[in-house]
Parts: sequence; structure tokens; C-alpha cells
Amino acid sequence: MPDQHRTWWKEAVIYQIYPMSFMDSNNDGIGDLPGLMSKLDYLQYLGIDALWITPVYDSPNDDNGYDVRDYLSIAPQFGTMKDMETLIEELHSRGIRLIMDWVLNHSSDEHEWFEKACLSKDNPYHDYYIFQRHENGPPCNWRSMFGGSVWQYVEKLQEYYLHLYSRKMPDLNWENPEMRQAVYDMMLWWINKGVDGYRLDSLATLAKDTSFPNVPSSKEDGLGWGGRYFLNRSPVHEYLKEMNERVFSSRDVMTVGETGFISPEDALKYAGYERKELDTVFQFEIFDRILGTGDITEPASIPPAVLKQVFTLWQEKLQDKAWNTLFLENHDLPRSVSLMGDDGLYRELSAKALATLLLTLQGTPYIFQGQEIGMTNVNYSRIDSYRDIRTFSIYDQLKKRKNLSEEEIMKVIHQRSRDNARSPMQWNDSVYAGFSKQKPWISLNANYSSINVENEMGNPNSILHYYRDLIRLRKNYPDLVYGSFVPSVSSNEDVFTYCRHGKEYDFFIALNLGKKEQDLENHEQGKNYKPLIGNYSDFIGKDNSEKIRPYEARVFIKKR
Ligand code: NOJ
Ligand code: CA
Repeated sequence: MPDQHRTWWKEAVIYQIYPMSFMDSNNDGIGDLPGLMSKLDYLQYLGIDALWITPVYDSPNDDNGYDVRDYLSIAPQFGTMKDMETLIEELHSRGIRLIMDWVLNHSSDEHEWFEKACLSKDNPYHDYYIFQRHENGPPCNWRSMFGGSVWQYVEKLQEYYLHLYSRKMPDLNWENPEMRQAVYDMMLWWINKGVDGYRLDSLATLAKDTSFPNVPSSKEDGLGWGGRYFLNRSPVHEYLKEMNERVFSSRDVMTVGETGFISPEDALKYAGYERKELDTVFQFEIFDRILGTGDITEPASIPPAVLKQVFTLWQEKLQDKAWNTLFLENHDLPRSVSLMGDDGLYRELSAKALATLLLTLQGTPYIFQGQEIGMTNVNYSRIDSYRDIRTFSIYDQLKKRKNLSEEEIMKVIHQRSRDNARSPMQWNDSVYAGFSKQKPWISLNANYSSINVENEMGNPNSILHYYRDLIRLRKNYPDLVYGSFVPSVSSNEDVFTYCRHGKEYDFFIALNLGKKEQDLENHEQGKNYKPLIGNYSDFIGKDNSEKIRPYEARVFIKKR
């Protein structure tokens, strides 16, 4: 990797915070900015370099802040603009950068633009959104992500507006250059306040096919999308080039686009080094393959073979052309230890094996709050304990099927709900897990008395300590960041082995991502490599074993 490509955001380990569930300072049961600030010592202790916080803008909270009412103010539940300014200052004084979440595809229906848009067809804001006149029902059969049609009728205008998400989240019209400039101006406003980067929400859906063709196989009762008519369509690249030129190009601001259902070829279009669009994208291939296709009632777990195949593919395809992002969790996904590890007997070992994977590949790693202590899926027994709009639409959709019992439906929810990641952060074993002194807005995971930060800090062999150690290794060895990725073939489906070749050092990583002991047919470890870190305490001494134990992770190093 040539040196001119070195940048802070490639070397950074980024921590994602879902502020509603991180820390509550005023005991109203909802996490907030002062609460977040009270945990900066912890974040520093963990060793992360930047935070990505999900939206904290003023919002009626139809989708927990992804429905923005005012991009230039802070929702009262989170605090004030002053709190935000203090947060930026505090973070910067600790050398931590801040990445804001920017919602581009839609606003809230309570945003003043939309309110004006609905006043009349000649109002200039009318063209900020996507309205269609249609005589016999909705203009096409696309289904919204949150269930039902993507079209909502406005009596006064006798027109429908488009919403890919909820009815309260009307899509913005990216074909309108004035709307685009208004968005850029607001992004610049925040950059002037000191934000260091943007995570761009639902980026792949900005450019719609405005002939609005019907999707041939749309299911009336289904969730989801007429995807090909608005995912990754070429005008999105024109918008991004323009945004890059006007907002990012002359500033040290990093960007990561949320792009579902993309191939490595698509990613190169968004984030290729020469493209002048984005720095990086989140790709969801491991999730798309398991959670994004097929019947929703099918068991959702990601097998080792998929992890191995997909990570290898992306490492190889992007190498020297674009920079990968690495993540196993976010606020929309089940907990990784439940989805791709083992949240029972092997919770600790599998969480550490997954941590090893996350932090030894090429790319920028993201850790989602609680991942570093091995938090698990929530499994609330009743639907009314859930809070997420998408979870309710899955529930309603399954209820319509008639052949499923309540228990079977809840099983699907347990595996797939976005609330799995949204239960409050588990700080200690006191009431409400030290998150709040009041009943939180969403129930705690019942296991908080054993799985919590305080316990993890006190135990030198904990998942948390292992994360810290791995983060420190990335700091100490830039070759672990920049070194090239070379897979080392293992015919065993559960065993993932690869090398990283740097300027000064080479690394060899061997992971058993399954529950059974396996043969390690690969002998790289014998070739002058020394053990660097592993998740079994007797690793040193057993580092030449040709057996690799359940969820064992071994990292070796040698000087070149
Ligand atoms: C992706 C966000 O991560 C998710 O939480 C949200 O519901 C949608 N975009 C819509 O903004
Ligand atoms: Ca609060």
C-alpha cells in the first residue's frame, strides 16, 4: 500500500453509539448526550479513535431519529446544542473524532420543507419531495421497508408522495438541484461546528426510476422493495460527485455510505480511490445473503463458510482499489455473538474469535456499543416489549399468515428484530444495569447482571480486555492496518486462515469459527512465526498444535 494513501480514518477503530441506549444522565429512561459524555473515559480506555453516533437531530421519533424534523437542532431528549458543542470539544481534546449520521434519502413529514410542500403544488418546496398524480390508486406497487405501499395520498393536493420507509418519512427529490444544495449547506454547517465525518444513511436509494414501473412479483402482504428500480442507480454517482466537490473535497472529512445489496464492483464505483465520491461504504453481503433473501421464517444464523467466503471476496476485490469497512454489528442487526457465534457455552470464546476477525483484516473496523462485552440478542417474550417500527411490521406480516403460532412468530422476532441491538448498554449489575435509575424506554437484556462492563473490566481474561489488546495491536503495528491480505487455503469450512503482509511484519491468522475441534492443515504457523495473541489462555505453548479448538483464534507475527 503506497504511503500517500495513509489517512487517519484508515488507521482508526470506530465505535458506534446508539445514544438512546448508551447512557441516561437525567434519569428519564432515555440515553442522552451528557450521559454519553460521562462515558468518555471508558471509550478512551477501550482505545477507540472515533465515534459514529446515530441521529440526535430533532425528530418525532417514528424511526428513532432517522425521521429528521430539523437537521440543525438537537432533539430535547438528547440535550441541547450546547451539549453537542461540549461533546465535540471534549472528544477533540481527547483526540477522538466525531462522525455524524446524515439522513439523505428522506426527512420527517414534520420537517418544515414537507409541511410547505403540502401547502400547494406551486410552493417551491413541493419539488423537494416526490409527488405523483395518479387516477386509479397508487402509481406503482413498490412495497415499503416498513410494510404497505410506498405511496401516501394527500387529499389536499390530490397527489401521492413516495416513502420507501414509513409514511412519516417522505423521500427527498434528489433530481432537484436546489434541494441538493440545501442539504450540502446543512452538512457544511455541521462541519463548521467541528464534525469530522459523515455516515450517509440509505445512500443507495437516492436515485429512483421516475417512470415508477411495477415490480413483477411484488407480494401484497410483503415487506421490502422494488429494489432494482431505486437501488444503486447511476444518477446517485452524479449526486455524490457533486456532494464531494461542494462539501468534502477541500476538507478533512471522512465519509462512509450505507449501501445495502451491493457487489464489490458497485463498491468500487462508490468508493474507488480515483472516483472522488466517497471514502468508504458499508457493504452488507454476509447479512444480505442470510437475512436479506428467502423466507423470513427461516432460521437466521450466519455460518462460518459464509463469513470466510464473503470476507475473502471483499478483501481481494477491493485491495489497492478501495478501502474496506469491517463490521459485524450495528443498530439494525442482531448481536454478532448470537447471529454468527454461540451465545451459550462458547459466548466468550466466540465473541473473541469474531473480534479477532474484525480487527485483523484490512479496512476500518467498527465496534457497536456492547459488542466489546459480548452482549447477546434480547429475546423479549412479548411483542409489546419491542419498540422498533420494523419489528412491528414483521410481526403484522407474520400474523397475516395464519399458519404460524404466536410462539413461532416470536421466534422469528427473536432472531431478526433490530431491537436486539437497541437494549440499554449494560454497565454494571445494579438496577437497570447502571444505564438509568428509571425504567428505560426499552427493556434491558435479562443477562445484564452477569454480562456488564464492570465485570469485564475486572476480569483480565474478559472479552473487553481482548478487544483492548487487539485495538492496541493495530496501533502498534501499522502493518496490521495496511498490510495486504492473502488467504491461505483451508478446505475445512469452519476454519479461516489468512496472512497479512506488511512492510516490516507479516501476520498469520487462524480462526476456527465453529463449535468443533478441527485439524489445522495449514502450516504457516511453523514458519518462523511467533504467537502474538490468542483467545485460549494456554495459546503460547500450544501454538504449534495441528488441532484448532472450538472458536479458537490465533494470531502470529514474524519480522520480514
Ligand atoms: C438505515 C438506518 O440504519 C435504519 O435504522 C433506518 O431505519 C433506515 N436507514 C431509514 O433511515
Ligand atoms: Ca435522559
